[in-house]
Amino acid sequence: MEKPTDQKILSGVQPSGVLHLGNYLGAIKQWVDLQEGNTAYYCIVDEHAITVPYDPKTLPDRVLDTAAMYLAAGLDPNQSVIFVQSHVPAHTELAWLLSTTTPFGEMNRMTQFKEKKAKQKEQSTLGLFSYPVLMAADILLYQANIVPVGEDQTQHVELTRDIAKRFNSTFGEVFTIPKAYIPEGVARIMSLTDPKKKMSKSDSDKSYIALTDEPDVIRKKIASAVTDTKPIFSFEKSGSAVKNLLTIYRAFSDSSTEDIEANFANKGYKEFKEELADVIISALTPIQERYKEIRVDEAEMRVALGRGAHQAQSVANQTLHRVKEKMGLM
Ligand code: AMP
Ligand code: TRP
Repeated sequence: MEKPTDQKILSGVQPSGVLHLGNYLGAIKQWVDLQEGNTAYYCIVDEHAITVPYDPKTLPDRVLDTAAMYLAAGLDPNQSVIFVQSHVPAHTELAWLLSTTTPFGEMNRMTQFKEKKAKQKEQSTLGLFSYPVLMAADILLYQANIVPVGEDQTQHVELTRDIAKRFNSTFGEVFTIPKAYIPEGVARIMSLTDPKKKMSKSDSDKSYIALTDEPDVIRKKIASAVTDTKPIFSFEKSGSAVKNLLTIYRAFSDSSTEDIEANFANKGYKEFKEELADVIISALTPIQERYKEIRVDEAEMRVALGRGAHQAQSVANQTLHRVKEKMGLM
């Protein structure tokens, strides 16, 4: 996939605790690649995070954790606009306006809502149901045409396209029609304990590697990751568990498929897992070191996020103004 240039990019992750390898490979690593040569907006979507039960006391810390991880992973506030969603009120305002143009039936098809609803003990809220409209607002406010996300978000980006097209044809051209940018190979990193499920922080601790996991924890989690009975190292022929581990290996080692398959052809799982842990640790160690340095300086992070919000706001408000005008709001 050729890297796009001169495009407008927007993406976000929720500050709902730890970020894991899936978030990094499926999303944040792509963001870092895309920030150069494009106009990029990366937000911490705190208003999405409050659509499921959460702790208001710790949310500010989670937002700062996420911001520090963005910076540690290589996002540069001089190249990208990095901000917190709730600092830019246009997001919720546009979400309301768009919700009045979105058919209920379209929302009813959202599979992530159904999954989250089924997982949760508490009754789900209107906010959880309408969350994809807020995501559409996030994207459309910045006229983004490229949305780098993991595979699980494609349905939401499709909905965003439909919302934008419908608005443009009903009220007049305002919105750019965005497209999901799904990375090849790493769009769906699977759980280490159950390769049928995607890696997710809502599953057991052992099923994912957090970006902040210490080396010995990473070694343990990889050592206990499920495999197949016969050691076959093939992106085609291995079972889903090993294919997932090979995919992670390839993403962190920057080796080719052929080299990896040849390298492990006569080796066993133990050796493979040791080498896999090594490549993960050597990629995450510098990120973790930067993370620790950045995270302690909350004052500086708040200044950077304030600057990001200011930049985001001036773009977002222009779009919102045009939307309100087209919709006949005085
Ligand atoms: P979330 O943690 O659900 O807010 O996801 C943040 C970003 O990471 C989104 O772009 C997701 O599509 C992506 N993502 C989450 N889990 C995975 C995974 N297991 N594999 C690849 N990408 C993922
Ligand atoms: N819904 C996304 C997720 O759970 C997060 C998100 C919110 C997002 N707004 C966005 C992603 C806008 C891309 C663009 O991962």
